[in-house]
Amino acid sequence: MNWRVPLADIDFGPQEEAAVLEVLRSRWLSMGEVTRQFEKEFAEFVGTKHALAVTNATAALHLACAAVGLGPGDEVIVPSLTFVASANAIRYTGATPVFADIESLGDLNISPSSIESLVTEKTKAILVVHYAGFACDMRTIAEIAQRHDLVVLEDSAHAIGSKLDGRCLGTHGRIGCYSFFSNKNMTTGEGGMLATDDDSLAERLRILRSHGMTSLSWDRHKGHAATYDVVDLGYNYRIDEMRSALGRVQLGRLPAWNKRRRELTTLYRELLSELVPEIQMPFAEIRGTSCYHILPVLLPDRLDRAGFMEAMKAQGIQTSIHYPPVHRFQIYEADWLARAHPLPLTEEASARQVTLPLYGSMSGEQVEWVVRAAEQALREIS
Ligand SMILES: Cc1ncc(COP(=O)(O)O)c(C=O)c1O
Repeated sequence: MNWRVPLADIDFGPQEEAAVLEVLRSRWLSMGEVTRQFEKEFAEFVGTKHALAVTNATAALHLACAAVGLGPGDEVIVPSLTFVASANAIRYTGATPVFADIESLGDLNISPSSIESLVTEKTKAILVVHYAGFACDMRTIAEIAQRHDLVVLEDSAHAIGSKLDGRCLGTHGRIGCYSFFSNKNMTTGEGGMLATDDDSLAERLRILRSHGMTSLSWDRHKGHAATYDVVDLGYNYRIDEMRSALGRVQLGRLPAWNKRRRELTTLYRELLSELVPEIQMPFAEIRGTSCYHILPVLLPDRLDRAGFMEAMKAQGIQTSIHYPPVHRFQIYEADWLARAHPLPLTEEASARQVTLPLYGSMSGEQVEWVVRAAEQALREIS
């Protein structure tokens, strides 16, 4: 489909092309020196001691859950208004995701009071998700975690460059997990990163990332190691040098894109409130700063959402839904029903939510087209 305005777009230029070409010409493609540089620069960017690049954020989340020792019998509190990978990663370890509600229709992040109500003697961790790049209430969540001796993990897939209390999101809990999937604020196609200040966790993550082995092919190639032992049941979640090369360039360009996303979001807010006030934009007030990953809106209650999205499509505007609630997916619903813990705000938000286009290279004129298309779409289906 040839969209007039796509939902998201990548911005690759000569710098990205040159960086990948340089790797190809170097004849070392699997994880090596370029990845080490990327990790060093990412750690500096988010302000942690360690950063480890991986194949994608789902792998990062899995490794984070495994490294903190989650396993069968453990419960992990997680929002349902997220991408399914946040919950699946918990399940990979044998632990059980327990779904918490969101704060409100104005703040679609996990609610601390819902978290508190779900803590049992089996709860071991809270996996927060900074929805759309907006910070969860980390102070209150940290306080709950401390009181109940719980680990806090951060799914920061949306939040590269967002900050709270002067620190990047993804560095408030034990481990932060970032995504470089194609629709993210910076991309390597597929890719992800783990960030932590904890030396022993970093070592565990490093070993789990590559088959539980004590040395890498790169170390052996460089003559730094001749052999290896296998000390844990690990995975192959390594990134490659082409992606790391892309990541280094994209990381350098990220602050300018995040700034642009903020300007575009402000413009959306102005135009929507002026031209289509029936459409609500959550996160009018936010904690800290955001990288404005996506542009979520809430349609009027009981409006035909599919009809709205069709009418937008007919005008060349791509929209999406973030997200169908995870607790309603077949593989999660029975367990959620058995717990009898309703999630009314999540259900309402996810029934009314639509995501409008937002990306760093978008123009103000395109924002206006989208808002005018939304005005027209509402007229058509009302
Ligand atoms: C909130 C959230 N968590 C996890 C992921 C998984 O990221 P990846 O595609 O890099 O595995 C995504 C991806 O879109 C996401 O949005």
